[in-house]
Amino acid sequence: MTDKARTALDALELLMQDHREIESLFSEFHHLQGRRGETGPVTVTACAELKIHDTLETEIFYPAVSDAADDAAIESLLDEAEREHDTVLELIEKLEHTGADHKQRDAYFAIIAEHVKQHVLAEETELFPMVRKLKQLDLDALAAAMKERKARLISDMGYAEAREETV
Ligand SMILES: [Fe+2]
Repeated sequence: MTDKARTALDALELLMQDHREIESLFSEFHHLQGRRGETGPVTVTACAELKIHDTLETEIFYPAVSDAADDAAIESLLDEAEREHDTVLELIEKLEHTGADHKQRDAYFAIIAEHVKQHVLAEETELFPMVRKLKQLDLDALAAAMKERKARLISDMGYAEAREETV
């Protein structure tokens, strides 16, 4: 293993880093909401981050784990995870079609935050420890693929500049 490979984050560490960033956006939202502040920008940023994270997991991470694991318990956790992702995406779509009704947007966002927190907890306490044991899965190669996909998604979304300021 090269020095570079040893210091770079592997796929699980990268996903957990994303989880922490999203959680800090949730905290910011709750803080602004409590102070009757403007929650619009933080919800827009968080929804964009969640969509990117969803794509990385459902296009790259979950299929790679499924291929490497011949394990019914892992498959069932992956099915559950994909259902949770669908639920969150549907809620994001509803939020985005709410228009100018801030109260309703905030209500949807609070539900999204609760779903995501539960999902992150399940991933980090159940799925990820099982994935960590899959010796045939190259978590460094997976991290490289996810980083590349993430960079492309950010530029496709025209989101790079806004992201610099808020994340
Ligand atoms: Fe997930």
